[in-house]
Amino acid sequence: MENETIVETRELAKVYGDGAEVRALDGVTLRITQKEFVSVMGPSGSGKSTLLHLIGALDRPTSGQVIVAGQDLAKVKNLDRFRSQTVGFVFQLHNLIPTLTALENVEIPLYEQRISGRERRERARELLELVGLGERLRHLPSALSGGERQRVAIARALANKPALVLADEPTGDLDSQSGAEVIGLMHELNRELGTTVIVVTHDPAVARQTERIVVLDSGRIVREDVVGDPYSEDLKMLKNSPLGRAVLEGIEVDLTIEGTVLYRNGQPTEAGRFLREMLERI
Ligand SMILES: Nc1ncnc2c1ncn2[C@@H]1O[C@H](COP(=O)(O)OP(=O)(O)OP(=O)(O)O)[C@@H](O)[C@H]1O
Ligand SMILES: [Mg+2]
Repeated sequence: MENETIVETRELAKVYGDGAEVRALDGVTLRITQKEFVSVMGPSGSGKSTLLHLIGALDRPTSGQVIVAGQDLAKVKNLDRFRSQTVGFVFQLHNLIPTLTALENVEIPLYEQRISGRERRERARELLELVGLGERLRHLPSALSGGERQRVAIARALANKPALVLADEPTGDLDSQSGAEVIGLMHELNRELGTTVIVVTHDPAVARQTERIVVLDSGRIVREDVVGDPYSEDLKMLKNSPLGRAVLEGIEVDLTIEGTVLYRNGQPTEAGRFLREMLERI
């Protein structure tokens, strides 16, 4: 069925510590539908990783509910099994086992399944081919680039065909080219396999490639944006820039971009009015 909910959080709260308490999440209510590609943004310490950990059942909330694939996580008896069957994790630092080859790393989650060693290796090989590493099966992580290691981590996260992939800053320590490749790959998985993906990122360029951006601040959702076409997204970026604000507020006496005059003597020109109207509408 289309538009079925896969993740729902209700008034989710997480308080860390006994003495000096940190309210990492403070009433997060969120619904994510199947096959969605969602990004989570927000300043450092705003609760992004905590939210991902709670959705992935790596930690328990202080209060509130998490429902994943129709299961209330508070009622799930075997969380290990839930995780291995439903969720794939990709973290910033790959978490690959350094002494195992790429192939062996991807095989690890498959040990839980009752399949022969041959099938297991075959499946791991297919996954590595899927992420473009068919020629790197026997490499140890230390012999792979950062982007390649991250692709191994993605292959591993997909090994059990999870309905949901949770990625915490998967491009955080990659250069922009490898980062774009990793996100492009997640995009393909989302589109072609129908995997729901939630990705935490600090990078607006990454967030813009997703369908919806959830912004956290101090443990609360402060904004949710549906990502539009690239043109509207560029306008949104402009709107939030100092130039966009100047155009909207008209505070400048004279304002010129690239030779086009937008304001003259504090009055908008035709070009300035046009741009202001576009920015007001977006
Ligand atoms: N295990 C923990 N014990 C105590 N406090 C914690 C713990 N984990 C996180 N926190 C605190 O909870 C808040 C939210 O942390 P979280 O890791 O979710 O932030 P984040 O948005 O992922 O930040 P970043 O962008 O830096 O990764 C922070 O103030 C952090 O110090
Ligand atoms: Mg974090």
